[in-house]
Parts: sequence; C-alpha cells; structure tokens
Amino acid sequence: MKKIGVLFGMENTFPGALVERINSMEIDGIQAEFVKVGGVEMAKPCPYAVIVDRISHDMPFYRAYLKNAALSGTQVINNPFWWSADDKFFNYALASKLGVAVPRTALIPHKKFPPQITEKSLRNLEFPLDWKAIFDYVKFPAFLKPHDGGGWRDVFHLHNEQEFFHAYDQTRDLCMTLQAAVKFKEYFRCYVVGQTDVHIMPYDPSRPHAERYVMDPPKYQAKLLARVKKDALTLCRALGYDLNTVEFAVEDGIPYAIDFMNPAPDADIHSVGKENFEWIVDKVAKLAVKKAQKPVQSELRWAGFLNGEAAKAPTKKAVTKKSTKR
Ligand SMILES: Nc1ncnc2c1ncn2[C@@H]1O[C@H](COP(=O)(O)OP(=O)(O)OP(=O)(O)O)[C@@H](O)[C@H]1O
Ligand SMILES: [Mg+2]
Repeated sequence: MKKIGVLFGMENTFPGALVERINSMEIDGIQAEFVKVGGVEMAKPCPYAVIVDRISHDMPFYRAYLKNAALSGTQVINNPFWWSADDKFFNYALASKLGVAVPRTALIPHKKFPPQITEKSLRNLEFPLDWKAIFDYVKFPAFLKPHDGGGWRDVFHLHNEQEFFHAYDQTRDLCMTLQAAVKFKEYFRCYVVGQTDVHIMPYDPSRPHAERYVMDPPKYQAKLLARVKKDALTLCRALGYDLNTVEFAVEDGIPYAIDFMNPAPDADIHSVGKENFEWIVDKVAKLAVKKAQKPVQSELRWAGFLNGEAAKAPTKKAVTKKSTKR
C-alpha cells in the first residue's frame, strides 16, 4: 500500500478535501491520510510515498522532517530543499533572465541588523548607501516588500522618497526589495500544478480579503491569457515547483509577474470560491497519485551516491582545461 500524507497547519478545508478526493478515487494500492509524526530517526524510511506539504515554511521541524523523508524516496510537494533555498528577489532576477516581464526590482540592506551583527560585521557594506542610484533605477511609485514574505505582511505602497524612508524605518531586520509599481488594469492569480496545468483566476487586490477572487470576470483577450499561461509555466518549470501560484499585474496588455513564490498557496474554499477549490483539489489529488505511482528522482546532489555511483571528482586534465578557458 502506498500512502499519501498531507501535512498542514491552520487551514480547514483543503487538507480534508484532498484526502477525501484521493480516497474516493479508489485506486488500488493508494491511500491518503493526514501525516502523523513524532521524533524522527535519521535516515529511517518514511512510511509515505508522497507528502503534500502545506506548512513547513512556518515550522522548521517539519521542514527538517521532510528533507529526511526525501532521502528515503518520499516525493514531497514541494521540494523542501529548493523551497528552503529560494527567495522572491532571486525569483525576479531569474524571471528577467527568462524573458518574463517583471517590474524593476532592487534588493536593499536591512534597516536594522540581527542582534549578533555588530559594526565590525558590516565592513563589506557600502555606507552611506547610494539611495539615489536605487531610486533612479526603480523609480516611484514603488512597492517596498520583504525578499521572502507572504500574506501581504510588511508590504508598502510608496510615492516618493519621504514615504520610502518612513516605511523603511518600520521594516526591522527584514531583508527588503524595492519594486516599481505596476499600474495594473487586470490582475491574475494562477494556480500551477505539476508544472503542466494552469488555472487563471481573475483577482482584485483592492477588495476585502474574502471577495478578491472575481467570480464574474469580463472577457479577456485570448492573446493575453495565452501569455499569462506560458509565463506561469516557464516560471514554475524553471523553479521546479509542483504546486504554486503565480501572480500577474497587467499594464498596457503586458502581464508583469510580481509574486510567484507561493509553494503552499491559499486553497481555502472560503477565499478562492467553490469552482477554484474544485479545480485545485482535483489537480493536486491527481498529481499526488501520479507521484505515488511513478516516483521521479529529483535533482539532489547526493542522489548519485545513494545509487552507488559516487560522484566523480573532476580529473586534473579537466580542471586545467576549464581554468585556462577563464
Ligand atoms: N510591483 C507591484 N505593482 C503593483 N502592485 C503590487 C506590486 N507588488 C505588490 N503589489 C500589490 O501588493 C499586494 C501584495 O504583494 P505581494 O503579492 O508581492 O506580497 P505577498 O506578501 O506575497 O501577498 P499575498 O500573500 O497576498 O500574495 C499584491 O497583491 C498587489 O496588490
Ligand atoms: Mg501575492
């Protein structure tokens, strides 16, 4: 029997619906349940063939548990190693290299530093910072937001330098990005599942939280939707996320990707609505079953060692060749 486990936090509707859906498919040899975990023995095989992770970003114990599980072949949605390594600023930089439209974005040093950092620790840091160069590049209006955040926390909409410094002073020891504001007419949130399926949801961030998913959207140009779909897939394939939401703000017909590191995306029926909920439950259920039936080895550095093929050290010749090329 291959077990699919769901690991979750406060959410109430998605985890139960997912377990129910998988079990209602009545597939021979597949069974879904909520994960149960206590103390974890290192390298001990995990009883789950697949774990759908909805919470490890908030709970370091779960993240470490999932990495250990991956070592014995558990397929984790999403890859806990990459999720730990990723951040939103890297995402923007990658997108710009991939030809996906993103607003100009700059990374800026923390306003306050973590307690262990003293003046002596900062000798590599330019001081004073060249704020003019940063503002000339990004330009106002702009958004100041964490390089790794969510839930609209510590996001500021700014129109000038004065507003910027007022907001920056409130950002504690967070690492922040400053991003050009998109004057958007349309806004889309897209579920992307299995790096193949995209569900575009018109979204209105100006409405109260529970009404943001637009249930009666106008008709959009097919060309725009096709580009949104293509760009959403490009981003999720490049980042390797099997479950993600990609957000686009559309100005003059150009979809700018502004938030696409959501590996545990909102899937609560009360915010996304019945139809979107149905879609995401169905697609994630099918993806989890597929992964249980046909595990795919992800690109893990040590995978070759576990298969008995120790990674080869580069030969002397190869090293010399490479270094002369530089
Ligand atoms: N560059 C931008 N141009 C226009 N609006 C933006 C931009 N960046 C952020 N916003 C607005 O701020 C909101 C929150 O930003 P963002 O999605 O980046 O943060 P978040 O913390 O991930 O929020 P959430 O969890 O709600 O997605 C967006 O929904 C959008 O309305
Ligand atoms: Mg967002």
